[in-house]
Amino acid sequence: MKTALVTGAARGIGRAAADALASAGLRVLRLDLNGEVAYDLTDIAGIAALVERIGDIDVLVNNAGVQNAVSIDKYTDAQRERIIKVNLEAPVELIRVISKGMVKRRSGRIVNVASIAAYTPHTDLWYGVTKAGVVSFTRSFATYLGPHGIQVNAVAPGPIDTPLLDKAQPERVDELMKRVFTRRKGRPEEVAEAIRWLALDAPPIINGAVLDVTDGSFIR
Ligand code: NAI
Repeated sequence: MKTALVTGAARGIGRAAADALASAGLRVLRLDLNGEVAYDLTDIAGIAALVERIGDIDVLVNNAGVQNAVSIDKYTDAQRERIIKVNLEAPVELIRVISKGMVKRRSGRIVNVASIAAYTPHTDLWYGVTKAGVVSFTRSFATYLGPHGIQVNAVAPGPIDTPLLDKAQPERVDELMKRVFTRRKGRPEEVAEAIRWLALDAPPIINGAVLDVTDGSFIR
């Protein structure tokens, strides 16, 4: 049986992705601040030991993310440090460590959760920076790991109905909601379906790709 590790799996998109992978028959380890695999991803130095404890991972979903709904003038050092750690450094460290076993087995799939914030200006500047970073490290790791039989892809969701969006700056959400085709927020399960496909069914030649799940909120 394949094992998946999903970060930020207690709610929102991560929980839906974990449920989708479990329904597909995988053993799913749900990492979050509390719960099954309780871990605070701001502890970058502890990630290698965590992975050692967990064992082999066949599918890694780097979903955990935070957003600070504040403008750059109001950003505190603590907020900046936290968002860079959770959104950027932790997923990079997880891929670095977990991919070693994948390389040995010549198999593994990694899906990173980016955002349309990677492509657009954002009212939370550091959120946009970290999500652009997710697209960047997806491409870099696909290049390093693709020759070893590992697929590294990302999804870039638009506005999805989760607690994170509830806390986002209303002017940004209003702007996005003017553009979506369905006239509603996306559902976590809809993003989870894209994650499940990339994690299990996408053919081997799909690597280093970013699948936009935006409902027209941003089209590139
Ligand atoms: P959410 O806030 O509902 O869930 C995020 C989960 O990550 C929570 O369960 C939280 O406890 C966990 N988490 C946060 N910090 C953590 C830490 N230090 N250690 C361990 N776990 C931690 O958010 P949502 O909306 O489900 O977001 C999931 C991903 O999707 C994030 O990367 C977010 O940036 C991205 N995204 C969300 C969009 C939306 O509109 N909701 C749009 C585009 C991307």
